[in-house]
Amino acid sequence: MRIIKAKDYQDMSRKAANIISAQVIMKPNCVLGLATGSTPIGTYAQLIDWYNKGDLDFSCVSSVNLDEYRGLDHSNPQSYYYFMHENLFKHVNIRPEATFVPDGTNMDADSACAAHEEIIRKLGGIDLQLLGLGNNGHIGFNEPGQAFEKDTHCVNLTQSTIEANSRFFDSIEDVPTQAYTMGIRSIMHAKKILVVANGEGKADAVANAFFGPVTPQVPGSILQMHPNVTLVADEAALAKVPAWALKQ
Ligand code: F6R
Repeated sequence: MRIIKAKDYQDMSRKAANIISAQVIMKPNCVLGLATGSTPIGTYAQLIDWYNKGDLDFSCVSSVNLDEYRGLDHSNPQSYYYFMHENLFKHVNIRPEATFVPDGTNMDADSACAAHEEIIRKLGGIDLQLLGLGNNGHIGFNEPGQAFEKDTHCVNLTQSTIEANSRFFDSIEDVPTQAYTMGIRSIMHAKKILVVANGEGKADAVANAFFGPVTPQVPGSILQMHPNVTLVADEAALAKVPAWALKQ
């Protein structure tokens, strides 16, 4: 695992965008695995900026997203489909038909999840998967305690995730209780993984995921077993990481 220390959120965003940008330049028809949430917004903004300056071309890129709430319409501002369009897709020249978010409008969970796996398979797998880290160590919506081996599946969100995500909704009752998410197996099959984390609220999750025991109680800890993981985090998120790990 490589750890890249950033000064602050902006620096983290720029460094993470540099890694994604390098991927797109080295393999213009790459498959990017994308995440939603607060953490990657600045990374996407930086990519948009470089695209506007003519430094990046997404015309041959495909993307697959990690997760989506079950039952939210595409026009719902809280859907991850909507998020991706607002925060990245509509600002760059990625082909809309080459962007894939799990289909939350399909209430048949088995068919929606199988379709997402099939898309990843047909694209030939994910070249670079971007991940945020939940306060409880979740990746995607793989919550603590779930089996490590799952492909895309439907999950019941934990109370802590519902509470964390309620900041985006009018009230906690509006937060969906289920989501479709790529599983640990789907994530671990990505050729490269880029984790972004910022703020002191992520310090425990970062330390537990990357320096604690590998356990389903901390889903992100499985990333210790992946051969190509880069963590880009700001100083606050790295505050509980052992000093030796930051020396390189
Ligand atoms: C988002 C996702 C989640 C978030 C995580 C961190 O697609 O899968 O695992 O990455 O909850 O969210 P933020 O970035 O809002 O702290």
